[in-house]
Amino acid sequence: MKNALSALAPLRERIERANPRRCHEVQEPARPFQLWQELIERTEGRLDVAGREVLELGPGRSLGMGLIFLAAGARRVVAVDRYRHLFWDEPDCDHLRGVLVRLEAERWPHAHRARSAVRAIEVGHVEFDPDYLVYRQADGAALPVAADAIDLSYSNAVLEHVHQPAVVVRELARVTRPGGDSIHEIDFRDHFDPVDRLRLLTFPEWEWQIRTRLRPGYTNRWRQADFVEAFAAAGFGHRAGRVTNAVPREIVEARRTRMIARFRDRPSADLCTLSYWGWWKRNERGHLDARE
Ligand SMILES: C[S@@+](CC[C@H](N)C(=O)[O-])C[C@H]1O[C@@H](n2cnc3c(N)ncnc32)[C@H](O)[C@@H]1O
Repeated sequence: MKNALSALAPLRERIERANPRRCHEVQEPARPFQLWQELIERTEGRLDVAGREVLELGPGRSLGMGLIFLAAGARRVVAVDRYRHLFWDEPDCDHLRGVLVRLEAERWPHAHRARSAVRAIEVGHVEFDPDYLVYRQADGAALPVAADAIDLSYSNAVLEHVHQPAVVVRELARVTRPGGDSIHEIDFRDHFDPVDRLRLLTFPEWEWQIRTRLRPGYTNRWRQADFVEAFAAAGFGHRAGRVTNAVPREIVEARRTRMIARFRDRPSADLCTLSYWGWWKRNERGHLDARE
């Protein structure tokens, strides 16, 4: 089964590459800067990346955040994505060049680190200096990273997509050093129904898997409370968090009877949350329940 699924990877890449929308979907260089701005606001200036080893899980079509972390002083960035989304065609190269140009124009304190990370950036030939930036294709459930090697693990809109969320959270705990940070934005919306964002909660598990398992955009249907619990169980203390998107309670209550049992009996706050931003801190050894 595993072999059969991995045989699908090249097919998946061919489809993504040939998709006529792809060129339009490659991000504006401004987007990673917006994500950085949000990160600084949400951490209220308390996040210092200087000299730190950063892991970005699921960077997708942009290594822009990785370059920004470096320009803000990170020692090294390791970016790990299960699927290949970067083909280093003109739009991909333009995007990364655009980020570098802006970092230099805005005189970021360590812009030279971001510049040094990119040894070559030509269509079909992109090379990174592994002392600064490492880009690997691997599953978050089996990170190619040594235990305790990371000071900050980060993701945006990734944890809802992983097939084994509990394993991925444990992997984040394994690689994040005690005292290190783990920051994630998680999107709980139904990714296949742009109108009814709670529709995903109405399908029995078997039907959900059949409908979505092999589709790009698959989501595991964990809710905010499941992730909060999993991070605590894996040895993280909850440092800060906020609901960043929600549906009104009346909508949840109107839908509740159609939900499967696993969701129907949950508190409405958990069902209302459509996205959540959380900042966790890896407990020091022997302090599994430490919280700030
Ligand atoms: C919605 S995209 C988000 C991309 C990027 N972080 C952003 O904000 O634009 C989700 C990303 O997670 C990656 N992903 C999904 N499952 C993963 C897994 N198990 N391990 C690592 N990456 C995964 C996908 O390949 C994709 O790049």
